[in-house]
Amino acid sequence: MEKGEVRGAERTTPSIKRNFAASLSGELSIAEFLKAVNYLALAVHWRIGYAHHLPNGFRISIRTHVERMDKFRIIGGKKLKGGVAISGAKNSALPCLAAALLTPETVTLRNVPYVRDLITMRRLLEDLGCTVLVPELRTHQINAGTVEDYEAPYELVKTMRASVLALGPLLGRFGQARVSLPGGCAIGQRPIDLHLMALEKMGAKIELRGGVVEASASRLRGADIEFETVTVTGTENVMMAAALADGVTRISNAACEPEIVDLAELLTKMGAKVEGACTPMITVTGVSRLGGADHTIIPDRIETGTFIVAAAITGGELEITNCAPGHLQAVIEKLREVGVEIEQTDQDKLRVAGNGQARAPYKAADVATAVYPGFPTDMQAQYMALMTQAEGDSVITETIFENRFMHAAELMRLGAQMRINSHSVDVHGPSPLTGAQLIASDLRASASLVLAGLAAEGETLIDRVYHIDRGYEKIEEKLRAVGAEIERVKG
Ligand code: UD1
Repeated sequence: MEKGEVRGAERTTPSIKRNFAASLSGELSIAEFLKAVNYLALAVHWRIGYAHHLPNGFRISIRTHVERMDKFRIIGGKKLKGGVAISGAKNSALPCLAAALLTPETVTLRNVPYVRDLITMRRLLEDLGCTVLVPELRTHQINAGTVEDYEAPYELVKTMRASVLALGPLLGRFGQARVSLPGGCAIGQRPIDLHLMALEKMGAKIELRGGVVEASASRLRGADIEFETVTVTGTENVMMAAALADGVTRISNAACEPEIVDLAELLTKMGAKVEGACTPMITVTGVSRLGGADHTIIPDRIETGTFIVAAAITGGELEITNCAPGHLQAVIEKLREVGVEIEQTDQDKLRVAGNGQARAPYKAADVATAVYPGFPTDMQAQYMALMTQAEGDSVITETIFENRFMHAAELMRLGAQMRINSHSVDVHGPSPLTGAQLIASDLRASASLVLAGLAAEGETLIDRVYHIDRGYEKIEEKLRAVGAEIERVKG
């Protein structure tokens, strides 16, 4: 622990007293001290961890404990009505924070969502030696000028697989990185072999010791990388490593997700030479140094899709603002096909109308997940919840992950009629759903259970909602503001 650091909410008070004393003695300005207290109060309000670096070399940090026992209690049957503002994209903010490791200059990121995965990524950056300031909510200023460690430890990787995004930038800038190998997870094996294969091709020496990937290279060199499977974080890791490599890297069969384009835009602002982002062939010409940048994260397309389904499944009407409708065309088209009325009212606004009935008679339609611009695997569970309320039979096929149907068995506990096959689920609808006790198994599965709970009659109690806190910013508050009866029950 560094000088003056206090860990844990319960030990913050002595630190405040000590720093207050320091400010009285003139060692620390009163304005700086008050600023720190203000941030800590915000951190408590947002139930997030936060570390504030003071000019006297002290640091006050607060770690709020994730209530792993928290539950959601939902009384279903309420039509949603009103406006919802979409937060920044988690899957874009994560690689953008990691990209800050590529430069000793400050990178400012705006519209960073306050979700647990971002707090974990911020903690990883701080543990590596970066300074991360949060001058206002959702703005992060990251300075990686003082990085002194190159390891993403198992403790963090096991709670957030996206910690592997530190690999590319650390290797690119410092020539060394140690990242714990993520194990399997609730939705499949999810190896990182393709990330490692690509970095090896760029000249990295990679060894696995005690479950930790140790990568080193005096300087990476550009290479032709062909991914046999499209991988989002794999593409991002290679783009970041290639930005500081010697020569040209061509990534074929690259992921085309909007989050890749957002990362490319940030890298370009930092001085990188990236071409072809949003196509399956990305070319990165390495430069010797990258600089600071100021960048605003794109809206979260999966949160947007989830709220569209929330309006549809309750037969309500929502105006969804701060969104990027162009990023979820496949979702919008599929939902229109089943009968959801979706109108783009402005560049960043959608109006969604269910048909006004509690159990709206939507028309069942099959869907198969696919890489972008196809129907996203991250919307599969939410779509399945809607299909339980649609007229007829639908087949929902998962092509990206091998084990992503944990929510289906839980939906059946509410009364949904379905058959789970190896790569698909047959849904027969519409089924009247009645509230029950459910267990959330992963992030998007949690979202689908919340949606089903909103449509069910009576009380639904969802356990392990810490999964949903990983990727949805205060979902229960956003839903409550548009008429849902949902509350967080402290464990
Ligand atoms: C990212 C998203 C996640 C989304 C997923 C697919 C982030 C932080 N997460 O995850 O929300 O569900 O894309 O859109 O952006 N694979 C390998 N070897 C590898 C890498 C991947 O076999 O080295 C396989 C995976 O097991 C999976 C498929 O490729 O079957 C796609 O995975 P990938 O795109 O890498 O997912 P993530 O980047 O982990």
